[in-house]
Amino acid sequence: MKEEKKVIIRGQRIQLRKTVREDMELKVRWYNDPEVNKTLVLPEKLELKKTYEWFERVQQGDSREDWIIETLDGKAIGLIGIKEINENNKSGLLYIVIGDKNYWGKGLGYEAELLAIHYGFKHLKLHRVLGGALENNPASIAVINKIGFHHDGTSRDEYFADGMYYDFHRYSILEDEFYQKHPELKERP
Ligand SMILES: CC(C)(COP(=O)(O)OP(=O)(O)OC[C@H]1O[C@@H](n2cnc3c(N)ncnc32)[C@H](O)[C@@H]1OP(=O)(O)O)[C@@H](O)C(=O)NCCC(=O)NCCS
Repeated sequence: MKEEKKVIIRGQRIQLRKTVREDMELKVRWYNDPEVNKTLVLPEKLELKKTYEWFERVQQGDSREDWIIETLDGKAIGLIGIKEINENNKSGLLYIVIGDKNYWGKGLGYEAELLAIHYGFKHLKLHRVLGGALENNPASIAVINKIGFHHDGTSRDEYFADGMYYDFHRYSILEDEFYQKHPELKERP
């Protein structure tokens, strides 16, 4: 049976839709692109078969929501989601990968993060969204700062890749802080 590619939230230039099994092919291609891969805290290469298995496994749980970032005409350009959702603390960790590098630096990562965080507060009823970025990822840090995340701290030398240790910056934003900074989103569905 074909899974429904349901759009959950539409922005001005992009939309987020539910991830389906067939998207795993794109995920593997994107994550294994060396330029993308070095921005992630996941230095190993993904394998398609294992990624399908992972997808099926995570469908059983309720600790994450995964979406594809699409242009408004339905072209998939990346992944975004909220994982490690903790029902008790009402928190979750935002992740994003614009896998199609032609779409970097055009404001779409910022828009996608705004929509995903709004969805997290409005529909997942979260209180706090966490974020993180490696020290060598200025684009990610810039977007996080522009969204208005609070820098909670830096975990020194947390990751080791290609013969070097990297610091990992941790961030959070609370629901009221987010809507103070982005009041135009408060009433949108
Ligand atoms: C990180 C990522 C999400 C950023 O999205 P993007 O669409 O490329 O960034 P945007 O165009 O929305 O930029 C938003 C802001 O960041 C700034 N920015 C973007 N790229 C930058 C860079 N390389 N260096 C410094 N600032 C940068 C922009 O100037 C913009 O700020 P401004 O509006 O004040 O000018 C995207 O590049 C990506 O997915 N990269 C690969 C995977 C990754 O790094 N994921 C995050 C892992 S934590």
